[in-house]
Amino acid sequence: MKKNSWRTDCWRIVDLLRVAEPPENVRVQGWIRTVRCSKEVMFLAVNDGSCQASLQVVVAVDMPGFDALSQLGTGACVAVNGRLVASPGKGQDWEVQADGVSVIGATGDDYPLQKKRHSFEFLRSIAHLRPRTNAYGAVFRVRSQMAHAVHTFFQERGFINIHTPIITANDCEGAGEMFRVTTLDPENPPMADGRIAWHEDFFGAKTGLTVSGQLQGELFATAFSDIYTFGPTFRAENSNTSRHAAEFWMVEPEIAFADLAMNCRLAEEFLRYMVVYALEHCSEDLDFFNRFVAPGLIEKLEAVVGASFSTMTYTEAVDQLLKSGQNFSFPVEWGCDLQSEHERYLTESVVGGPLFVTDYPEGIKAFYMRRNDDGRTVAAMDLLVPKVGEIIGGSQREERMDVLVAKMKSVGIDPQSLDWYLDIRRWGSCPHAGFGLGFERFLMYVTGMENIRDVIPFPRTPGNARF
Ligand code: 4AD
Ligand code: MG
Repeated sequence: MKKNSWRTDCWRIVDLLRVAEPPENVRVQGWIRTVRCSKEVMFLAVNDGSCQASLQVVVAVDMPGFDALSQLGTGACVAVNGRLVASPGKGQDWEVQADGVSVIGATGDDYPLQKKRHSFEFLRSIAHLRPRTNAYGAVFRVRSQMAHAVHTFFQERGFINIHTPIITANDCEGAGEMFRVTTLDPENPPMADGRIAWHEDFFGAKTGLTVSGQLQGELFATAFSDIYTFGPTFRAENSNTSRHAAEFWMVEPEIAFADLAMNCRLAEEFLRYMVVYALEHCSEDLDFFNRFVAPGLIEKLEAVVGASFSTMTYTEAVDQLLKSGQNFSFPVEWGCDLQSEHERYLTESVVGGPLFVTDYPEGIKAFYMRRNDDGRTVAAMDLLVPKVGEIIGGSQREERMDVLVAKMKSVGIDPQSLDWYLDIRRWGSCPHAGFGLGFERFLMYVTGMENIRDVIPFPRTPGNARF
């Protein structure tokens, strides 16, 4: 592994720790994680975020400038020049014998991240410093790798990446959870006939932040066949749970000439690819989660790679729940929405792995899902995984104009308001399907982190947008 060609003056620690032949003189820059002193030497653990491991730096008392370093503490930013040598100590192959250490940015005793293990709750309150911890370092390296994996999966399969809009006039899921986007003066909006005159707003209509790129994605799928979007989505959903964020990222592929079964096959191949990618590219960080956050994680992920996913219909799922003998806080009957406790029971206790639940009652799903021949269910699928519950939601889309228009009217959506969406049913309609993977829900699954706030750099949840 070579130094980055654009960075000629110093090494990234990840590269240095993997060298086969130690270079003579090295320079590294990073932040001090710990300082240990004995009579003759000082040991610094220096971390630059490039990997989980810190570099051990050994500073001898007779090094010029040693005295000035005695105040060095956790959190300080330093540059180290020295020689890379085989480490006699446990836990690392290489260490640096320092010839010089300079302080780039000093720290103080009040640095909030001291040696002891802090709770995730506490670390959330200092979201600007938490990336300097082992756990969040691992989370955000994995997040970055997984974002890359999303693109490689779809690009390798010829999907076209579409950047769907963030500002939109349409509530795709129809759940009324859109954040408003407006330039009108909230204290003195223009009025017409006793109501706010939205036509005078910036876009000439009521607009908000997108809850899903699907509707625009469908348009592009009926031109490019296979497309995907991957971007931020926003939901003003006032549910303060460990699995909901107001701002999250969604991966939404949309494929033409596809039915629900094909959609499930794509979802399964995608999820497995992502897990294999994590195992292959993030092994050091997964090892950390396996040891300190979620024992058994790696074994669970490896099992997912080897087995095919289970499938059951919603009706079968309800039967399973009814005969489970479990005392759920939300009672179960055919037609009810599955709650997290139900989803977890099915995936954890009934199948013990990922589970597709398909063919949900029409009444609890969005307007665009294709009606099944039974007249009471739709061609929907949710993928449920242990601990997290729903990680993917998708469906075959209603491609029949008359059925779709009747459905929109019956749920109170003015077909005129989505005339552009209906146009693809008007000219060259075709069966098509797609799904949305909640990127953070996937990250929770692959890292074992139990709160969605802990896999988002700066989480947005009710009452929380400080950083
Ligand atoms: O099931 P959802 O609402 O489906 C859609 O938005 C479809 N338009 C997707 C499509 O077919 N193209 O959301 C998809 C996924 C969920 O399964 C969940 O993983 C995640 O998005 N999700 C959330 N993640 C974090 N916080 C929230 N508030 C979320 N809401 C949904
Ligand atoms: Mg859903």
